[in-house]
Amino acid sequence: MDVSKVFQYAVRLVRIMPRALIGPGAVELAGAEAAGMGLKHVLFVTTGLRGTGIIDEVKGIFEKAGVAVSIYDKVESNPKDYNVMDAYKLYVEDKCDGFVSIGGGSSHDATKGARVVATHDGRNINEFEGRNKSDRVNRPPHIAINTTVGTGAETTAMYVITDTTSPKAPFKWVAVDLPSIATLAINDPTLFTTLPKEYIAYTGFDTMSHGSECYTSNINHPLANPVALDAVRLASENLREAYANPKNYDAMMNMVWAEYMAGYAFMSGSLGIIHSLSHAVCAYYDIHHGLNNGVGIARVWEFNVPSSPKKFADLARAMGEDTTGLSNIQAADRAIDAVIRLAKDVGIPENFSTVKPYPKMRMGTGWYANRPKEIRSDEAEIKKMAEHLMNDVCTPVNPRVVTMEDARQILRDCIYGRMARNAHITSLEGVEGVRKPVGV
Ligand SMILES: [Fe+2]
Repeated sequence: MDVSKVFQYAVRLVRIMPRALIGPGAVELAGAEAAGMGLKHVLFVTTGLRGTGIIDEVKGIFEKAGVAVSIYDKVESNPKDYNVMDAYKLYVEDKCDGFVSIGGGSSHDATKGARVVATHDGRNINEFEGRNKSDRVNRPPHIAINTTVGTGAETTAMYVITDTTSPKAPFKWVAVDLPSIATLAINDPTLFTTLPKEYIAYTGFDTMSHGSECYTSNINHPLANPVALDAVRLASENLREAYANPKNYDAMMNMVWAEYMAGYAFMSGSLGIIHSLSHAVCAYYDIHHGLNNGVGIARVWEFNVPSSPKKFADLARAMGEDTTGLSNIQAADRAIDAVIRLAKDVGIPENFSTVKPYPKMRMGTGWYANRPKEIRSDEAEIKKMAEHLMNDVCTPVNPRVVTMEDARQILRDCIYGRMARNAHITSLEGVEGVRKPVGV
């Protein structure tokens, strides 16, 4: 009997997690852990975390434990296929026997990709897009040392790579592949205190998106849901204080837990179109994933409310809103207002067309040198990004069915609209700043 005609997700998957060390001082144990795994020479894969001193500090920890270190420090935000292949080449050249990712999601995802490539004798990473594409499980060990309050990549079975070489390029794809899970995840709040405030805001909104998308996704996972909701509570209670002062230990430690718990939850409970939207905009503009989520979250919540007003009312309560005497729809409105207030309090821009330069911004540089530095899409580009959104692996689990016209509407609102309820841009006619089509 084909029960999928009646139940979209009759059988839920519970994915495993790696061992994890969470708390101040955890990173000091990384070298001994690597030695305990039998590793002799690891490859650090990282964006470089320049100016923080973290890479030198962690290198010392490994060397003290008798583990030699090579470093690939050219991972870009929204890691590209060439980052993965270059890291793999260095891994082979230096005869490494294990990987250590240090940084946020970009470093962890590039490492997951390089491990997959290493296990499959150097095949191109773009062959592994999608679900369970790798056919070998004997990957080299991977220690993921996390330094941001978003992504959850140190603990999930997913990784996201931007294809810059195939005919689909630019295309930001997702792999869901159980053996891509790290061997050990480390979250040490002492590594988070040098984060620029923008990154705390952006990655914090990645965590808000993971928790809320998982809680409302149509997988409706009984094990993931309570953890996802509590991650939203923790993030919304602590993000402002962590943003205002990254050395506020209690706020940062709570953000670390929120990040990890949201990662745990969405690994089994999945996500939705905040992420589909974010992947599409990243593919065309190489902009920060969490920033995209911060711009998109209120718009997507508003779009998704009809799928389950009760769940959005729960989100309002998780964010500390008093919903006594309100209907679920009225309470859902409170959730949207609360997430807009939080976004504004931590400097999330009103929309994509008003994004200001932020630390390590990559728009219009590197592989994207011929792309604009400002997001001022015309209808033709919005259509292309809407197609990217519709084809994303996160779209089928979104709680509300999405049409192409819905996707275009959400993109228009995110690029040019005000961040407010019921503020929709239904046409670009008369909208200021829209880029003229090429040749006009
Ligand atoms: Fe994310």
